[in-house]
Amino acid sequence: MRKFTTMMTAAAALLAAGTAVKAEDVEVLHWWTSGGEAAALNVLKEDLEGQGIGWQDMPVAGGGGTQAMTVLRARVTSGNPPTAVQMLGFDILDWANEGALADLNIQAGLEGWDDVVPEALQAFAKHDGKWVSAPVNVHSTNWVWANKAVLDELGIAVPTTWDEFVAALEKVKAAGKTPIAHGGQAWQDATVFDAVAMSTGGPDFYKAAFIDLDEDALGSDTMKEAFDRMAVIRSHVDDNFSGRDWNLATAMVINGDAAFQMMGDWAKGEFLNAGKTPDQDFLCFRFPGTQDQVTFNADQFAMFAQGPEVGKEQAALATAILSPSFQSAFNVVKGSVPARTDVSDEAFDACGKKGMADLKKAAGSGNLYGSMAHGHANPASIKNAMYDVITAHFNGEYDSATAVDELVTAVQINK
Ligand code: GAL
Repeated sequence: MRKFTTMMTAAAALLAAGTAVKAEDVEVLHWWTSGGEAAALNVLKEDLEGQGIGWQDMPVAGGGGTQAMTVLRARVTSGNPPTAVQMLGFDILDWANEGALADLNIQAGLEGWDDVVPEALQAFAKHDGKWVSAPVNVHSTNWVWANKAVLDELGIAVPTTWDEFVAALEKVKAAGKTPIAHGGQAWQDATVFDAVAMSTGGPDFYKAAFIDLDEDALGSDTMKEAFDRMAVIRSHVDDNFSGRDWNLATAMVINGDAAFQMMGDWAKGEFLNAGKTPDQDFLCFRFPGTQDQVTFNADQFAMFAQGPEVGKEQAALATAILSPSFQSAFNVVKGSVPARTDVSDEAFDACGKKGMADLKKAAGSGNLYGSMAHGHANPASIKNAMYDVITAHFNGEYDSATAVDELVTAVQINK
């Protein structure tokens, strides 16, 4: 009943707001505004245009989607939700709990989504047995991107342990170059922390701390060690890192101004967009010490209920997103891997093939974990509280021991 009332209120308010969106258009709220992201989004736009469905673009810049989620909340509060919204993990479940999302079960049933979408994604795409969003991709956060020429020139091999990584960073620094390209924004600090924590403590520690929110793990010496390693990373970024957008950090590696960037595989979209080739111009490898693990985030498009039935154009968008040919074409450009298990890796480059193989292996061996930094380990309230602590530590406001205490408190308050 509450769900129905919410939908009716939203529908009435939508009419009252006199929106400019035509019935056959989809208005899509997303944060894909970098060059590589926009190129990938075009694949989707063109696919829909081919079916006669118009696209009303609602971009909200800001990697990781924090700003996009703030704008979404304002739109829904004013009774004018967009038709479709790019969304991550627990945010989807939060909106589904509020009864705001359309039911996609008819499309899912007709097209057999249950059989081809990995369970780890279904955990976020389904609510109370209903499909409420269409998964576009699987990204993962524990990657390092490197400029091959810089590494070759300095005789640096791909590091496989934390100690080897630190030795490589020192070598780059000694040569007068920036070892790590980083953008000092909370979500980027957290993205690095995802990999560092996994490498420092291993998968059981990662799960206990970020997914189970176990206080002993959160307050452990291992967590302190993870923060100590973040301080080492902080000492290898350039002076202008503060506030830098992630794609500008990627550009530093593309241009050879920096050796490495720790970033999810959306970074690959930037290399490709700049005409670069894996293994020739750049290298992709798992953050040292996380070779067997994958910390994933999956972009999905959640459809906001505009009435009791899912809209025709929303259904068409969901069907387009889940089609195997789109999953291949889009993810080849985006840097991610398909959200279906039955898509061939043939069209993918070396990094994409590795991403697909790693995902399959990690899922099969219990080494696939939701990314804390990208909303797949815990709800936004806790994620944001963790962001605050990680960023304060990265910027030198807390020493590692204080950061550990603050992390425990942040989780206690927001759990
Ligand atoms: C992630 C999203 C990716 C990528 C990145 C940077 O949260 O899942 O698709 O675009 O943000 O904007």
